Amino acid sequence: MTPIVDMHQIRKSYGVGTPVVTEVLHGIDLCIQEGDFAALTGPSGSGKSTLLNLIGLLEPPTSGQLQVGGRDTAGLDDAAITALRGRSIGFIFQFHHLLPGFTALENVMMPAIIDSGWPTAKAQAAALRLLDQVGLKDAAHKRPSQLSGGMQQRVAVARALALSPRLILADEPTGNLDTRSANDIFELLQSVNQTQQSACLIVTHDPALASRCARQIQMVDGQLLAAGSAPAFKG
Ligand SMILES: Nc1ncnc2c1ncn2[C@@H]1O[C@H](COP(=O)(O)OP(=O)(O)O)[C@@H](O)[C@H]1O
Ligand SMILES: [Mg+2]
Repeated sequence: MTPIVDMHQIRKSYGVGTPVVTEVLHGIDLCIQEGDFAALTGPSGSGKSTLLNLIGLLEPPTSGQLQVGGRDTAGLDDAAITALRGRSIGFIFQFHHLLPGFTALENVMMPAIIDSGWPTAKAQAAALRLLDQVGLKDAAHKRPSQLSGGMQQRVAVARALALSPRLILADEPTGNLDTRSANDIFELLQSVNQTQQSACLIVTHDPALASRCARQIQMVDGQLLAAGSAPAFKG
């Protein structure tokens, strides 16, 4: 089975081309399979967000090989990267990043319209189904400021699901929430993983949530501990 993500000896440095080059990822091997439900844990500053940004094709690695959805990402131009990201990956961040001037419904419609050019009616119908799935059908016409933190984050989950991604990258999605809302978001991701087989990679500082994931990946100082290592890279 082709993994969704296959990284081999990935390094990332910041400040390349300046006098101060800092390598923050030191040769990462990681394989994420269809349907994985994995926690990524590690101290602050260890490189978790950087790793997610690379997997999510928001930034290129400095060296190493990265395949997403069976495609080698080296040499792809911006348009190809955007297209690959759009059909493969949904993002959820610690802060919801919803657009404040738009309703929940409009926020969830946005990826389908902007990234995939869906007609408005199709995007709206899909967004309403997603809001229903996250338990927010009645809040469709509210703006983010009219919703609680937990509800805002559920809208962000619905938005991440808009293009049926094979992988959901969640960077401390519950870090800003009370325990109960955090649990709701976690269970929502679990149900998406089980019903839609979307793989999830979830950065969390909460050991209780991490232990409820099927797989634990630990990062220390820009390296993964052995359990996160990948099988041999098929290049
Ligand atoms: N854009 C950047 N420029 C320079 N250094 C960065 C940048 N982004 C992250 N870093 C550094 O990389 C290291 C890893 O950061 P990060 O991936 O955010 O860690 P984590 O998410 O585990 O807290 C930190 O030392 C951080 O300061
Ligand atoms: Mg981080």
